[in-house]
Amino acid sequence: METEWPTVDLARPEIWREPAGLLSDWFDKPFSAGRIASTGGLMLFRHADVERALCDGTLGAMGTRAFEQIGWTQGPFVEWMRHNVVALDPPDHTRLRGLVSRVFTPRRVNQIAPEVYQVAHALADQMADSTEVDFYESFAQRLPLTIICSMLGIPEVDHSQMQTWTEAINAASGIPRVSAREAADDAIESMGLYVKALVSDRRRQPKSDLLTALVESHDHDERLSAEELPAMVIQILVAGHETTRNLIGNGLFTLVRHPDQMADLRSDSSLIENAVEEVIRYEPSLIWVARVPKQPIEIAGQEVQEGELILLNLAAANRDPQVHKEPQNFDVHRQGIRVLSFGMGAHFCIGASLARLEGRIAFEVLLNRFSEIHFSGPEPQFAAYTALRTLEALPLSLRAA
Ligand code: HEM
Repeated sequence: METEWPTVDLARPEIWREPAGLLSDWFDKPFSAGRIASTGGLMLFRHADVERALCDGTLGAMGTRAFEQIGWTQGPFVEWMRHNVVALDPPDHTRLRGLVSRVFTPRRVNQIAPEVYQVAHALADQMADSTEVDFYESFAQRLPLTIICSMLGIPEVDHSQMQTWTEAINAASGIPRVSAREAADDAIESMGLYVKALVSDRRRQPKSDLLTALVESHDHDERLSAEELPAMVIQILVAGHETTRNLIGNGLFTLVRHPDQMADLRSDSSLIENAVEEVIRYEPSLIWVARVPKQPIEIAGQEVQEGELILLNLAAANRDPQVHKEPQNFDVHRQGIRVLSFGMGAHFCIGASLARLEGRIAFEVLLNRFSEIHFSGPEPQFAAYTALRTLEALPLSLRAA
């Protein structure tokens, strides 16, 4: 007998705000996916199914399908997605990924560690002067923004402009309203012009930054087209900072909610690396990613038509009881953590080691510099309708050590 499959209604804000919790009672049910209401397609939630789908080369990348479904088929943002490494399939994906992995090397990431400490301490100094802060704004977002801009070679005076543009672009990652789409289009257009001017600069005067390395790849090998070069720089900026803001911000949010765990980290800092991994599992920065089959296929026992979206719920998969014991518990001592938060397979996150490094240094510095960290008002809520797991704000009261 065919199993009745549940429906996932993306119009309900709770499914965005609680992407894991809402599905937690599905794990002991006989079905393996939810049907997405109104647009069709599936949402996978089991760790094994999500992992298999991420590594399945016959499933296409997300392309621009999610945007087409809401009638957003042209303009600067959609054009950018058409040249964006994360949205492409081979052979373009293989070529672009090879190129960015050659310049975004582990050596470059290791070399940036002293600067991460320096920026984290400078931000902590500023916060030490006030008893109440919006932690997202004062620290969580500024640390990764400063670091990714510094790696790319973007002058400091332009950092806050980058923030404004990437915020507008990321706000288009879920179900954007028309005003959000317009803002994302404007941001891509302005950012494209800005990056092109910076590229001309580096041609005249090469530096030791990531941007120069990308420009050289383009000019010497012609492996990166004129559209792909700015698209790649924008993707690195967009992918490289609000995701990590959420790791640091949501991580501290989770620690404040679990004071016993925060106390354990204070008394044994060797636990911090594992705590970062547990934060990445428990509150992944990105709640789901999408795939689109290139032909009708059967997945988790269900027929999916060509072009229908398959959402891979990373947040739910990380809490699969088949993989993690008592998965709804946050536990900085947890062993054998197997996160899917950075994806897996061909599109595995290029910045995972940078994000982990920034998370580790951020928690180390914060726990050293502040002896007390509490919510300064009611517990904040997560925003709905965006695939980035973002708190609406994170007001904290801090006491310097
Ligand atoms: C906590 C922080 C981060 C999280 C949770 C995260 C998550 C992800 C995920 C889930 C994917 C795979 C998307 C898919 O399969 O469709 C991805 C891809 C990617 N990420 Fe990250 N990311 C983070 C930080 C960064 C940073 C710091 C960079 C900086 C360079 C970065 C650059 C990229 C790029 C370029 C891709 C595309 C790779 C490809 O398509 O081959 N990410 N990220």
